Amino acid sequence: MFSTRITKLLGIQYPILAGPMAYISGPELVSAVSEAGGLGIMASLSYPTPEALVEAIRQTKALTKKPFAVNITLLPAARPVKYEDYFQATLNEGVRIVETSGRSPEPYIHMLKNAGAIALHRATRTRDILTAERAGVDAVTILGTEAAGHPGQEEVGTMVRVPVAVNAVKVPVIAGGGIADAHGFVAALALGAEGVLMGSRFMVSREANIHDNVKKWLCGLTEADTILIQKSIKNASRVVRNPHTLKILEMENRGATLEELLPMISGARGRNAYATGEFDEANISVGQCVGLLSDIPTVKEIIDRIINEAKVIMKRLHTLGVD
Ligand SMILES: Cc1cc2nc3c(=O)[nH]c(=O)nc-3n(C[C@H](O)[C@H](O)[C@H](O)COP(=O)(O)O)c2cc1C
Repeated sequence: MFSTRITKLLGIQYPILAGPMAYISGPELVSAVSEAGGLGIMASLSYPTPEALVEAIRQTKALTKKPFAVNITLLPAARPVKYEDYFQATLNEGVRIVETSGRSPEPYIHMLKNAGAIALHRATRTRDILTAERAGVDAVTILGTEAAGHPGQEEVGTMVRVPVAVNAVKVPVIAGGGIADAHGFVAALALGAEGVLMGSRFMVSREANIHDNVKKWLCGLTEADTILIQKSIKNASRVVRNPHTLKILEMENRGATLEELLPMISGARGRNAYATGEFDEANISVGQCVGLLSDIPTVKEIIDRIINEAKVIMKRLHTLGVD
């Protein structure tokens, strides 16, 4: 059921991937997604050193024998990062699915291919997935503006991004941004995607390593409760609208410099909220699909629910009169 080029390529049961989430996608969440038949993706740069990443990979391998991936986000980080070391540590540990995001994976593809690894790349623009395909990746993920994290500057939705991507590349396309339930899953397949990638849905799961207060708060929000900040510094970021993020937007609108913005947009604020459950002064990343989230299930419940409800939706669609 729901077998696609993505399930075959990655050796997974269902074409459902969990997008990496900094400081959330550690061994517990990643292994839970893979155990439930999807693909967990570890957020490698949450780990301050390649050695710390190795430790997290080893913990994950102790929790699941199924495939999981490591993401390496190629964005300028607050601290200097030698990406090669993260790739090498990942490959040395025997991980054979590596996802990149942030910028072209081209400089690292030879390392991955020499090691016999599968290369996935996630991007927000059609031209960037074309670049990744030329560089030799095995599959691409395209994100619509609904997505949490960095959904790009262009503000094009998943409904348009996905079919454009499917027409543009030959490698299989995974759809991300705004998908949180069976309706989104079936819609993505209907748009031509061969898999889905979800972040926000897994953020509000039992296994996500964040304070329950944050998860409960997210469950009460609507689809209109996120805003895009950091567009002025060309690093658009979708976050929950709260007094803190509205202040950031106001600073951007009156032309604040990067130096002025940095203390306000620091990732440490989100991390502190994850730990303490105090979210008023934090920029919490979440997608528009937060409006679809009203409970805190286990990862297995999320995936089973999507698959079971997707079957019902497909049957209903058949009753519309297709022979
Ligand atoms: C709390 C949170 C943290 C995230 N951190 C990262 C990250 O570190 N690197 C990255 O490439 N994407 C990150 N993302 C983006 C997700 O991997 C994924 O692209 C996105 O959540 C998909 O959109 P959705 O939330 O609508 O499902 C994050 C998303 C969330 C919700």
